[in-house]
Amino acid sequence: MPFVTVHKGGQAFRDEVPDNTNLVVKAGIRKFPYPNFKYKCGMGKCGTCTSLILKGGENLPEPNWKEKKTLGDDKLARGFRLACQLWLHHDIELTQEFDAPDPAAGQTPAPAETETTITG
Ligand code: FES
Repeated sequence: MPFVTVHKGGQAFRDEVPDNTNLVVKAGIRKFPYPNFKYKCGMGKCGTCTSLILKGGENLPEPNWKEKKTLGDDKLARGFRLACQLWLHHDIELTQEFDAPDPAAGQTPAPAETETTITG
């Protein structure tokens, strides 16, 4: 089962999720990564769930047409994805805070973060 790490507010929220998990669906039923995850439509239209993939992006499928339309080629090339369009099968690390380090620039998350594991 994949481990998901969400970086937010200087903390890293981490939990194991079942294979084939969609983070927006999980947050919608008040499970991890709720309440530390932004989303709205769940259909790839609003862009609220936009996430910068820090690790594990190589395991994700190619962006679908909704991601291409909502994010555009530039953001996709910089590692952004729509979480509502992703069903996870591998470990992933992401943030919805876009002043976070840019993996494309070879930066990594700040080392001073606290890791929090949420179960349930
Ligand atoms: S929740 Fe609206 S695009 Fe993902």
